[in-house]
Amino acid sequence: MSNVFGKIVNKIRKVVRCHTDAKSYHTLIQDGTSRYFLDLYHKYKRYGKEHSTDWDVEQVLSELLVVSHTIEKGLTVPESRLGFGEKKVDALITLLEAIPEAQAKQQERYLIAVRTLTRYVTFHQRRGYQLPKRVEDAYAKYRKIFAINELNDLTSYQSIKGYEHLAELSFADFAKLRHSVRFYDEKPVEEEKVINAIRLAQTAPSTCNRQSTKVLHIAEKEKINQVLNIHSGCRSFASNIPTLLLLYSDLRDWDGGADFFGPYLDGGIFLMNLLYGLEYYSIGACPLNAYFSKENENALREILGMQPYEIPIALVACGNIDAEVQLPLSERRPIRDIYKKL
Ligand SMILES: Cc1cc2nc3c(=O)[nH]c(=O)nc-3n(C[C@H](O)[C@H](O)[C@H](O)COP(=O)(O)O)c2cc1C
Repeated sequence: MSNVFGKIVNKIRKVVRCHTDAKSYHTLIQDGTSRYFLDLYHKYKRYGKEHSTDWDVEQVLSELLVVSHTIEKGLTVPESRLGFGEKKVDALITLLEAIPEAQAKQQERYLIAVRTLTRYVTFHQRRGYQLPKRVEDAYAKYRKIFAINELNDLTSYQSIKGYEHLAELSFADFAKLRHSVRFYDEKPVEEEKVINAIRLAQTAPSTCNRQSTKVLHIAEKEKINQVLNIHSGCRSFASNIPTLLLLYSDLRDWDGGADFFGPYLDGGIFLMNLLYGLEYYSIGACPLNAYFSKENENALREILGMQPYEIPIALVACGNIDAEVQLPLSERRPIRDIYKKL
């Protein structure tokens, strides 16, 4: 990078950053950042599900929610393959069995997993498909443990066919209506609609009004396929995605010290706003993670011609909806799980 403005950098820092403690700020940049990351790394090693070898109940419940979600996704694809997700269902049962019954009944995530197992089994029973004995046995066991009416009417999923009357809804109803949509018609989304949704997303707040989050609209089918080829979170619907958006942040907008996670925080807020914007303009959308390995991130950069200072935040699959599509329920945790007051 050329150093045209080298002379003014220090001066500007002193003026604009006068509200931060300069000493701690520079310490953070010089060696604090690496210590911070080392500390975070150790915390992940100790508490992250991938690293720890002995999960506690909280980690098991957390994993139950994730596995339930992947099974739900399988149940709502347009043509679910009978017997799909055998390993995942097996994992779900193992996790359910790991939780002592006395604790289990109080835990909504446990109940969500039992409801998912019930849906999976009844889906197959209705189609006359014989599931492995372990799955049938587990289902019989949980039916006995939980009153049958708790498990009633668990066979249907919510479905939508396009969006109607959105403008008449209150924000509360509109927010409740939004869900990730993973199946679209073939036509790419009109650019004007995408731009309108981005304009709405721009109402998002950002750190010191940086507005660093940017959107790359990927309309070429071949490029969409290349990107999705290196993405592991949308295999069941990748071939059906007509329009793909990449949210990224420009590191030149950031200091790289205390604001290290700013691109991701601002990017996440922008993402949520964009999802509302897309929905408002009747576009079905599903956020997709951008948790790429280094190799895949390099491949992504190559495919999309990204600059080294541009960092991917998230992808968004989107398209119009014409036929009726089913949606996973993605049940939410109860407020007592996520809220406390001091
Ligand atoms: C950052 C982020 C990454 C996501 N990545 C994926 C993904 O890779 N594949 C996918 O099918 N859904 C993905 N989702 C969608 C979530 O599965 C979905 O938001 C969640 O289950 C809640 O459902 P809802 O969006 O319908 O309310 C992602 C969501 C977020 C916020």
